[in-house]
Amino acid sequence: MLSEVLLVSAPGKVILHGEHAVVHGKVALAVALNLRTFLRLQPHSNGKVDLNLPNIGIQRAWDVAKLQMLDTSFLKQGDVTALTPEQMEKLKEVAGFPEDCADHEHLAVLSFLYLYLSICQSQRWTEESLELINKWAFQGERVIHGNPSGVDNAVSTWGGALRYQQGKISSLKRPPALKILLTNTKVPRSTKALVAGVRSRLLKFPEIVAPLLTSIDAISLECERLLGEMAAAPAPEHYLVLEELIDMNQHHLNALGVGHASLDRLCQVTMAHGLHSKLTGAGGGGCGITLLRPDLEQPEVEAMKQALTSCGFDCWETSIGAPGVSVHMAASLDPPVRQALDGL
Ligand code: PMV
Repeated sequence: MLSEVLLVSAPGKVILHGEHAVVHGKVALAVALNLRTFLRLQPHSNGKVDLNLPNIGIQRAWDVAKLQMLDTSFLKQGDVTALTPEQMEKLKEVAGFPEDCADHEHLAVLSFLYLYLSICQSQRWTEESLELINKWAFQGERVIHGNPSGVDNAVSTWGGALRYQQGKISSLKRPPALKILLTNTKVPRSTKALVAGVRSRLLKFPEIVAPLLTSIDAISLECERLLGEMAAAPAPEHYLVLEELIDMNQHHLNALGVGHASLDRLCQVTMAHGLHSKLTGAGGGGCGITLLRPDLEQPEVEAMKQALTSCGFDCWETSIGAPGVSVHMAASLDPPVRQALDGL
């Protein structure tokens, strides 16, 4: 049992290149962002476990005594295991959720309950290694996404910039501090459905789609090489090549069928300001990234953000290569972070 407030955080992430291709064994380059999700773990004396996820409007509470009385023998305590479809059904029963619930809010609560019942009940939440955090995060992802590649949990655990291929992870040494604009089109999409769509397109047109995946792989490798060069001596030409890679990948992703009108709009608006964008992650809406060249003047960035906001999108200026999962001491928090957390 915790005796004091524990504050942990993990970075948001974007995939620079290689989304979807990574599901088929190709390379993905993923980077942690300086936009973090904070989790405050606070001991309660009211005998309840409270879950408060303000960003997605979730506030739930369970009696610890009742949770302890639940028959959780269907979960393998302490072992990092995947949740089987049968266990998922039982978990929904435990949570009192309808069998057919599949929306993000229900899945987020189920993911929490699964991790809580598997980790906390068995008292294994101590000084676990990053590997263990990563493994559990992967299982949490599986509850929500079905069959993820593992790149998302890896980059949020280790931070920085990672090359990921078939479970093999290597960190890029000293990635350049690229600035990007992260734009959320706010168009909801199902990663599961989009990944399945690419798979069926690959099965239907193997001669056409397999070369696209190979080409995306080559884009990721070229980007990795370039980031290495930039770490040593960044030059304006590097940014031009990065922009070309972004454009080519965006076209490939469209050809894979994971584009969306909102993402086309994002590309057009940023292109009107001379900047290049691509979708990041599953596509079909969701988020896109725009490379902010260092020569850009701030008023230009502000004008572009304004134009994107008028499309109904949300934007954040951020940089890549943030630290991975971290524990924070309350005293060392920046005042704005502390203020934001006080609101939770
Ligand atoms: O949309 P996100 O951020 O969950 O990313 C999905 C990335 C995919 O490559 C499409 C799927 C995966 O598991 O890697």
